[in-house]
Amino acid sequence: MNNALNTIEEITLMGPGPSCVPPQVLEALSQTTLGHLDPSFIKIMDEIKGQMRRLLHTENQLTLPISGTGSAGMETCFVNLVEPGDPVLILSNGVFGMRMQDVATRLGGAVDVLEFEWGTPVIVDQVREKLNQKDYKIVAVVHAETSTGVKNPVAEIGALLKDKNTLYLVDAVTSFGGIPIELDAWGIDALYSGTQKCLSCPPGLAPVSLSAKAVEAITARKTKVPNWYLDLTMIINYWQGATRAYHHTAPINMLYGLYQALWLIEEEGESQVYARHLENHQKLAEGLQQLGITMLVDQEYRLPMLNSVLIPEGVDDAAIRSTLLNQHKIEIGAGLGPLAGKIWRIGLMGHTARPENVEKLLAALKETLGR
Ligand SMILES: Cc1ncc(COP(=O)(O)O)c(C=O)c1O
Repeated sequence: MNNALNTIEEITLMGPGPSCVPPQVLEALSQTTLGHLDPSFIKIMDEIKGQMRRLLHTENQLTLPISGTGSAGMETCFVNLVEPGDPVLILSNGVFGMRMQDVATRLGGAVDVLEFEWGTPVIVDQVREKLNQKDYKIVAVVHAETSTGVKNPVAEIGALLKDKNTLYLVDAVTSFGGIPIELDAWGIDALYSGTQKCLSCPPGLAPVSLSAKAVEAITARKTKVPNWYLDLTMIINYWQGATRAYHHTAPINMLYGLYQALWLIEEEGESQVYARHLENHQKLAEGLQQLGITMLVDQEYRLPMLNSVLIPEGVDDAAIRSTLLNQHKIEIGAGLGPLAGKIWRIGLMGHTARPENVEKLLAALKETLGR
């Protein structure tokens, strides 16, 4: 039997995503494909919405996975909420904050950006000051900035917006499934994520959740949502209600994969999953310290699932990453933008966050760096 893919080798994915996919999810992906309006499949869709609501701690009706990667989730939130001239404030301290700025600007938003140094978090006092000067329709921030390994104070920013009309938009691509998210308690109105990070499902879906306030804002739009594929007012007719209407053919098998991935998180227990991420992060940080490798981000703001480490002086960035990949079958990530050549990004996301992976990487780094 000839298989098109039988030459692919297994790589331990310890970069910024995708992460390792557990066998149960790979098996779910290979189940027989159903029709997108098959009642059994619609049951699975409804289950997924429930799983997402429980894990995000939200009552939001409009909680569903968008067909497409995390960027499709980003586009969905912005394209449905931003109309030309709308004042938007982006809190930016890395690549994905910059991407939000680009997306909101393309939609004709009147975009202001509060920038913070890469490798440091958003400073809440500066946000408060900015909000005292001007009213915004949307304030947006990245929870887990994958380009730097910084955790932003999403709950504290949400508290500033509590009694305002402003919509709070949060990127949870890297945080969902790796650190706690309290969507309703933190006052988040629009949240998007991706499947290939801490959910440990291959890339291809973007969980999103929008509050009743966000839905009201969509309903009150003066202009039509300028993107047919991501228009939630249409997608909703496929994902909600007693009778479902075709919008686009859902990626059936990807949704099986997401269902299984979320099922595994609930089976292990949400708090155990977060504790596992933290324990493996600590094990990695200690091991790296013993190798004389230091972290970019101050301990208080570090993400457990994305560890940015400073490349030791005199070490060839690309050569080390390539040896890790070719000889040790481990992938780690390079730095982006101003951090290119300065840091490595070591992911401990979802199924990757296991002690055997940390040990494997530390041993490989020790050998490769000759320490
Ligand atoms: C924080 C963050 N936002 C958005 C994205 C974009 O997601 P995708 O590459 O799945 O489109 C990523 C991807 O790495 C990310 O880390």
